[in-house]
Amino acid sequence: MNFEPLKNCKYAVIGNPIAHSKSPQMQNAGFEYYGMGSIYGKILVENEELADFVEYARKNLSGFNITVPYKQDIIPFVDEMSEVAELSGSVNTIRIENGRFIATSTDGVGLAAALQVHFHKEVKGLKVIFAGAGGAAQAAAWYFACNGAESIFVANRSLAKAEHLADSLKKAFPELKTGVCELADTEKMTDFVRRSDVLIQATSVGLKDDDGTAFDLKCLEGAENLCVYDLIYKETQLLKYCHSGGIECANGSDMLLYQGAASFEFWTNKKAPVEAMRKGLEGK
Ligand code: ATR
Repeated sequence: MNFEPLKNCKYAVIGNPIAHSKSPQMQNAGFEYYGMGSIYGKILVENEELADFVEYARKNLSGFNITVPYKQDIIPFVDEMSEVAELSGSVNTIRIENGRFIATSTDGVGLAAALQVHFHKEVKGLKVIFAGAGGAAQAAAWYFACNGAESIFVANRSLAKAEHLADSLKKAFPELKTGVCELADTEKMTDFVRRSDVLIQATSVGLKDDDGTAFDLKCLEGAENLCVYDLIYKETQLLKYCHSGGIECANGSDMLLYQGAASFEFWTNKKAPVEAMRKGLEGK
């Protein structure tokens, strides 16, 4: 494996694909704010190269981020895990201390910060419905459960994945209210939406410009108090509908920012310069 892209770097993001990642411009803005230079790189890691990268990282890096598809695959190499990483089985941030990997997931805390900033919502006591039950939904749902959410409904295209997530959450947190349905079950979706404060759109529907929505928008009719957070970074059909119908909503770009800020703090023990990092993310 060629580690040339990481020359002079102490931090990095790994994934496959990785070219599109904006983490370097965001994190380097943070490191530069503290006069530490541009020390965060990105590197494409093929499946069979993960062990080689790990060996390089233990000797040469102070920390790294992990994105798709390695958030679970990295776990066998980890020496210490935070509670939320352990429970969700997902790691996006590793700090390296004397070659030891200390792991956590900042996806949930990033989403929680975005909900606070946009909607003034706290996780404690929150009633939430997830559309989607993939990796992103799982990491966020576990963070919410660990931090006192009142109810978590999971709607997914395939019911089995939603059931697996809801059952595992309920087992770990018996007092948590849960429920599941198929995204196509508009009647149940409507019921869950009415009983929720926030809907988190965590499917991949909306990534492509000509995508529709993952569920029938009818279920949002009359949901005056609902806030909608779409994990996708752009104006999806769902967000267009919310804007036109006066439903409070936001796209996923601030989750990216705040998960990055939490990673920065996990590594450096310094307060993340969020506004500088936002400018970095926006390429300013
Ligand atoms: P991520 O890491 O972004 O969460 P993922 O783990 O691949 O990615 O999860 C993708 C999510 O989008 C899943 O909930 C998936 O539903 P399934 O579990 O049924 O596969 C959902 N998804 C993808 N394409 C979809 C579609 N066309 N309609 C509805 N849901 C879809």
